Amino acid sequence: MPQNRIMLDVLRGKAHFPPPLWMMRQAGRYLPEYRETRRRAGSFLDLCYDPDLAVEVTMQPIERFGFDASILFSDILVVPHALGRDVRFEEGRGPLLTPITVPEILALESKVFHVNLEPVYETVRRLRAKLPDETTLIGFCGAPWTVATYMIAGHGTSDQAPARLFAYSEPAAFQHLLKVLADHSAAYLIHQIEAGADVVQIFDSWSGVLDDASFEQFCVQPVAEIVRQVRAVHPDVPIIGFPKGAGARYQTYRQKTGVTGLGIDWTVPLEAAKDLQRSGAVQGNLDPLRLVAGGKALSDGVEAILKALGGGPLIFNLGHGITPETPIAHVEAMVKQVRSATR
Ligand code: CP3
Repeated sequence: MPQNRIMLDVLRGKAHFPPPLWMMRQAGRYLPEYRETRRRAGSFLDLCYDPDLAVEVTMQPIERFGFDASILFSDILVVPHALGRDVRFEEGRGPLLTPITVPEILALESKVFHVNLEPVYETVRRLRAKLPDETTLIGFCGAPWTVATYMIAGHGTSDQAPARLFAYSEPAAFQHLLKVLADHSAAYLIHQIEAGADVVQIFDSWSGVLDDASFEQFCVQPVAEIVRQVRAVHPDVPIIGFPKGAGARYQTYRQKTGVTGLGIDWTVPLEAAKDLQRSGAVQGNLDPLRLVAGGKALSDGVEAILKALGGGPLIFNLGHGITPETPIAHVEAMVKQVRSATR
């Protein structure tokens, strides 16, 4: 493993100042070059499964901004898709799936899971060969709970009521679904690592809607299982967990799942984030809307994070994905401010 990928150093607990920097959803619709490739690709899933085009869009933000890390271009919903579920992305409506039933959950399996995902592994191989040596390559998957919310509701919702109700009403089927997703997600991450990913991130975007017992059962345990399976094969590859909205549960989440780094959303108080740095690296946590607004809202937000967290292991990032309406000039201003920061 090259020594010059500073994000890896930070994930091993070392502080770097200025910190390494990348953005969640850095390849996306705020970039005109992404919109152009996206048009050529046809459907969103065609883009995810075409290594030529997926490499092209993954590289776009690296070529423009020179981020320290590159995240594979794909989506968390390729896992249910590769398991044979119907997944579509419609302009302006987000993902649409056929809601899964109890008998379908109990029969859920695919003998061609990795065959279906081979184009994603090919994208990772080509990216590692193409990226600058100092750029960390991040692979990823969705956490079982977050992926399950889409499989059950068939679309995004704000409070995940369909999945919560299903989990309480059909506990055995729901546990089975989490187990199938955890096993396949772990195998998926292992294949990405073997194709060249230096780090993997587990996105649990909807972990903030659960009560205590459900958070433990639906978020912590399945992610701990993924971490266990990945570590059994690749003990040294850092794993970042991003349980968005986990609030007061962030600390125990790291302890119980065993993730190396913690992705923190923008609602995590900086003092609390500083405490979290005692047990390892944190990644975040600029409010993406400060980046949309720009100006003082942006520079104050960046400065507060660097001041509070810059002395410990920090990966500078947004607290959630960049939004399509973000002006490119604001991203440039943020990169400049982080890169030129002095202590
Ligand atoms: O640059 C990167 O970050 C890598 C690519 C990436 C995408 N999705 C591309 C994408 C990653 C890491 C994801 C993760 C993802 N996908 C999550 C977890 C992180 C989060 O944002 O909470 C979730 C919940 C999904 C599911 C998903 N995919 C939704 C809800 C949507 C629609 C919302 C939207 O922004 O349109 C998508 C579509 C999607 N995934 C787009 C991109 C660039 C936009 C679709 C398009 O270009 O047509």
